Amino acid sequence: MILVAGGSGRLGTLIVRRLAARGLRVRVLTRDRKRTTHLEDSRVEVIEGDVRDGASLSAAMAGVSTVVSAIHGFGDIGNVSPASVDRDGNRNLVNAAAAANAAVVLMSIVGVSAEHPIELFRMKHAAEVHLRASGAPWTIVRATAFAEFWLDLLDRTADSSGRPVVFGRGSNAINFVSVSDVAALVERAVVDPSSRGATFEIGGPQNVSFNRLAGSLQEASGRTAAPRHVPRTLLRLLAAVLGPIQPNRARQMRAAIAMDTIDLTFVPTDLHRRYPELAVTSLADILTRRGVDGWFS
Ligand SMILES: NC(=O)c1ccc[n+]([C@@H]2O[C@H](COP(=O)([O-])OP(=O)(O)OC[C@H]3O[C@@H](n4cnc5c(N)ncnc54)[C@H](OP(=O)(O)O)[C@@H]3O)[C@@H](O)[C@H]2O)c1
Repeated sequence: MILVAGGSGRLGTLIVRRLAARGLRVRVLTRDRKRTTHLEDSRVEVIEGDVRDGASLSAAMAGVSTVVSAIHGFGDIGNVSPASVDRDGNRNLVNAAAAANAAVVLMSIVGVSAEHPIELFRMKHAAEVHLRASGAPWTIVRATAFAEFWLDLLDRTADSSGRPVVFGRGSNAINFVSVSDVAALVERAVVDPSSRGATFEIGGPQNVSFNRLAGSLQEASGRTAAPRHVPRTLLRLLAAVLGPIQPNRARQMRAAIAMDTIDLTFVPTDLHRRYPELAVTSLADILTRRGVDGWFS
């Protein structure tokens, strides 16, 4: 049995479908089973639990050989934060896995470090450190930004005006990877015991700016208008004002400033020598596939 924490999410859904399609039994851990109705499959079980509550995880571990962590606390659903989910929640999940003699495949981010300017990256780093010391067999998968997530966000913000919203100047080069390529790597990591003790880094074939990403989306959508920009000064002001009342939003504003200014490019590793069958999907192909894969829904 494979337990996928975050199996209801964008990446987790693809991982669950891939593992189930291999004939493996999969259990999805979610805070609310209503978020898993799209995963109805006789090989997929759903169990409710919250990684912030270690006690809620023991039932989820029954018969589990591998745990996949595809969770994050950077979003808006529930009172979550990178500290409570990515650091402490992953610690609970790893401890539960170690107690059950299960291996762990942890989703992390390219560039994580203890001093990173983005809190989420620091909390992922803490999770990696805890996992390596836990005694559980482990594999870490670090990915760059998911292209589909950001295209989706740009598309949604273009809804009424036809002009996607870009945070900051939008000229900083960033690496975007297709979430389906990441799911394929996580699937390999789950089924390949020789990946234990390895840290994989996966990125897309191009480093592109948000302006270019938005431009490609506009072209693919038959729109011509230029994106709207939220100036960095406004992002800083919003981060300061929202801090005490909407910490999640303030965190996102701070991350937006960092994404507009710091190095988020990717230098390919030897990952594809190890797994030559893994696809490297271009931005153009991601945009062409839109609708077919339903990633805008
Ligand atoms: N998005 C990116 O650009 C990107 C880049 C690199 C790495 N990653 C990593 O890839 C993974 C998947 O990202 P994603 O964008 O696909 O995520 P997503 O769609 O936003 O889904 C997040 C998942 O986290 C789960 N979750 C959050 N708090 C939880 C809690 N307290 N207890 C249990 N589950 C909780 C949610 O489950 P429920 O709501 O069902 O409880 C949901 O399934 C994450 O580890 C993320 O950090 C993402």
